[in-house]
Amino acid sequence: MTARLIDGRSIAAALRASVARRITSAGFRPGLAVVVLGEDPASAVYVRTKDRAAREAGIDARSIRLPADTTQANLLATIEQLNGDPAIDGILVQLPLPRGIDQHAVIEAIDPAKDVDGFHPLNVGRLADGRPTLTPCTPLGVMKLLLAADVAMSGARAVVLGRSSIVGRPMASLLLAADATVTIVHSRSRDLAGECRRADILIAAVGKPEMVQPGWVRPGATVIDIGINRRPNGRLVGDVAFETCALVAGAITPVPGGVGPMTVACLLENTLNAALRRRLE
Ligand code: GUN
Repeated sequence: MTARLIDGRSIAAALRASVARRITSAGFRPGLAVVVLGEDPASAVYVRTKDRAAREAGIDARSIRLPADTTQANLLATIEQLNGDPAIDGILVQLPLPRGIDQHAVIEAIDPAKDVDGFHPLNVGRLADGRPTLTPCTPLGVMKLLLAADVAMSGARAVVLGRSSIVGRPMASLLLAADATVTIVHSRSRDLAGECRRADILIAAVGKPEMVQPGWVRPGATVIDIGINRRPNGRLVGDVAFETCALVAGAITPVPGGVGPMTVACLLENTLNAALRRRLE
């Protein structure tokens, strides 16, 4: 391996510690509600991880588990209650939602001031307008990794592979706000490999195991892997073929231990920031 490893675990630990210190000096405990429908095992793991990290940072985390067959009306009523609860500063509804529930209606029901996922159209619009307030946690975590690893963004060619609302699109907005020259590529793009090879900063967020091969990576480029995929043999792999791309890249994130820990740490930071802003209003 020749690439420098960007260690998400240690950068996330430092961010969590800084959130914990800020909470201690704020003198109150922010409240975070995590709403989960059904018993999806992957979601259950995420929710437990979020719960534990929140408590360790001094955030009162409340998990609200609803049956998989909860109606949309019931879910909306739960959100309404959390919107009006002064002890709750952040609301996160775990996605994906069961079929039959309109995800957009649910996201739009969340008070934008408590939208710690940054998915509400008001927060999406502010980010697209270059005035981020509550920003989606995964792309925010990637920006903090790039900053911590001293990767120059101004004027750099950044290619984002994937155009999801949760990751690809907000990622592109944040890179643009950092003065990168941004290209989004996706399943319909011509010459995916060629587009990716032009990148100084390549960000993979497609959910396809080891799709990015060394021939897609410009020598010396920074490669950020947002994918978390489980191989049939149980091994966790990213969207990037790590071992071989690390021979070409200048810096690279591992999976696990790269972007994943940053997502959780940024959720805590968003919750604290939402709490502080709400107390100023
Ligand atoms: N499911 C996968 N990633 C996310 C996320 O960042 N937020 C929520 N709410 N659900 C998710």
